Amino acid sequence: MADKKKLMIPGPVEVSENSLTAMGSQVVAHYGEEWTRIYNETVELTRQVFQTENEHLFLIPGSGSAGLDAALGSTVEGNRPTLIPINGWFGERLYSVASTHSTEVKTLNFDPGKRIDVNKVNDYLGNNKEVKVLAATQCETSTGVKNPIKDLGKVCNDHDVLLIVDAVSSLGGTQLKTDDWNVDICVSASQKGLEAPPGIAPVSVSPRVWDLIDNTPDPGWYLNLKIWRKYATEWSDWHPFPVTMAVNNVLALRESLESILDEGLEARFARHREIADFLRNSFRNLGFELLVEEDYYSTMVTAVLRDSRFTVDDLKNYLEKERSIKIAGSLGELEGQVFRIGHMGPTATYDAVLPLMYGIEEFLRKNGEDIEHGAFFGKGA
Ligand SMILES: Cc1ncc(COP(=O)(O)O)c(C=O)c1O
Repeated sequence: MADKKKLMIPGPVEVSENSLTAMGSQVVAHYGEEWTRIYNETVELTRQVFQTENEHLFLIPGSGSAGLDAALGSTVEGNRPTLIPINGWFGERLYSVASTHSTEVKTLNFDPGKRIDVNKVNDYLGNNKEVKVLAATQCETSTGVKNPIKDLGKVCNDHDVLLIVDAVSSLGGTQLKTDDWNVDICVSASQKGLEAPPGIAPVSVSPRVWDLIDNTPDPGWYLNLKIWRKYATEWSDWHPFPVTMAVNNVLALRESLESILDEGLEARFARHREIADFLRNSFRNLGFELLVEEDYYSTMVTAVLRDSRFTVDDLKNYLEKERSIKIAGSLGELEGQVFRIGHMGPTATYDAVLPLMYGIEEFLRKNGEDIEHGAFFGKGA
């Protein structure tokens, strides 16, 4: 068994007992009437979390990147002109994936920690009418920025550009109205805001994009949305997907989706926001600076600037060794400059963040800071 630590990284998250039990249950056949009913029920629950009525929502066995590869490959293969606005490591990742399918991928770059500027995207699309597809992250997990997907949806709609959204680290804890916001393809992953084990990439496809997909060369077979639609249609009554489904992952996902919907999406978003706000204030009370400004911080992950008091590794190691809490550093140019706290699903709770903040305070004290117990609550606490 891997050494057990409380996961406060930006995914994966620890899962509920019900999900664990489902994951550990005996394997069943991935086809037939009963399994098809369970699969379809799970798809329907997923639709509710995506806030979509799209007929085609696929549960692709694989990590979030499998879903992104399916979305991008199925729409940009064969050198379709594509725009990727980038403001961090996962925007870069979208670019890397898209570039394996098209040589015509352009980028608009924004500083890590800043949000995508929709006006600049609008200008770019106005001046580059050949662009047909745009892909962007909702939560840029490497920095904790929430990008303005609703506004991007409007701009893409105005320019008749297909919008792919990477909601891998936002879905389930952040408002995302797939249909109302004109998101053509929305991709997520089971292991973050959806609170299930890693292994499923849900991909929602709006009816209006199939024409373009049908006029795109095949990007291979497994991650080809045409193939997923074909089986969802032709084998709908017994095997509505092309491969051996990851049955236990689907069962575990179904459990977590049920509890997400029981809590209620709006209540969940409010809980994530409350915890994000609490953490942001707590860090400020301890003298830290946050990477992301007030207007557009993610409610799922917070990036805090390291300062001269310590190194990111010192803090991470202290929390792991003394408090059994695992937090994350960052990626790319921010590596060593910020540390990140994941607060999604089970960690978007006071039960999770209070011991963390206590541990960080303790770390500072051990490093010679004169800090009172509970200083992170701020004055008057
Ligand atoms: C925004 C975002 N996109 C894509 C990915 C890649 O997902 P996966 O590791 O599940 O393939 C991640 C993972 O952290 C992510 O946060």
